Amino acid sequence: MSDSRPIGIFDSGLGGISVVKAVMDILPHEHVVYFGDTARLPYGSKSPETVQRFSAQISAFLLEKNVKMIVVACNTASAVALKHLQSRFDIPIIGVIEPGAAAALHRPETLRVGVIGTTSTIGSGAYTRALKAINKNLNIQTQSCPLLVPLIEEGWQDIQIINAILRTYLHDFIANPPQSLILGCTHYPYLKNEIQNLLGSDVLLVDSGNATADVVKTILTRQEMLNHESGDLGMHQFYVSDFPQKFAEISERFLGKPLENLFRVELEVLESYLA
Ligand code: DGL
Repeated sequence: MSDSRPIGIFDSGLGGISVVKAVMDILPHEHVVYFGDTARLPYGSKSPETVQRFSAQISAFLLEKNVKMIVVACNTASAVALKHLQSRFDIPIIGVIEPGAAAALHRPETLRVGVIGTTSTIGSGAYTRALKAINKNLNIQTQSCPLLVPLIEEGWQDIQIINAILRTYLHDFIANPPQSLILGCTHYPYLKNEIQNLLGSDVLLVDSGNATADVVKTILTRQEMLNHESGDLGMHQFYVSDFPQKFAEISERFLGKPLENLFRVELEVLESYLA
């Protein structure tokens, strides 16, 4: 059995491209259609209802591109809109929360877990629920870090400022390090080294995006939906709702190379889905 339809992946912006990269690395023959809602970012400070509506519009757009599954690469959308999407659309749809939670408990002795994310993700309690579903006796501490996304998007390199902000947010984790810390936002893996330096090498830092790419492979393999037809590498198409300032710089940071096959979708077109 072979299914040559593309995998749909979306995020509030460009951060989810790191998930595309992880999928490309472990599933090089799969075609991918990515959507980054750059015109309406950030999702992290918006209401759940708004994020659900945006996520449903994007999913309808991706379905029109004939995707075989949808990966919600955005932690915020995964936290507040995943169930809404799963009940509305009839293809496999996965988010990054459950794979991230499972990866945080990879070491069986883990009892203390930290989670950092946007205000919406932390406020939703989604990571706490996913972790407790695996082990209800866990000690879980969460912290929203709203300044980190703009800091990374702006490409700030000043290590003293970065460390000062991280020290403020991570104060409790530094004083009493958890065994695992979930980097519950598309952007945070870009500060992995700085966070690891502050918390020490014993803390397992979990990139939910990478963990999710493994789950994509498991689902497609189990459901016999892998693409065996393309002898060559898969094709990757990128759609965005705007070209923001520093677009090239930011997207290159997330993909590690310039974006090709890049198209802009007018917001009015996107909004017409499910209107
Ligand atoms: N993609 C979002 C997330 O992972 C971060 C950016 C935003 O707030 O939209 O939560």
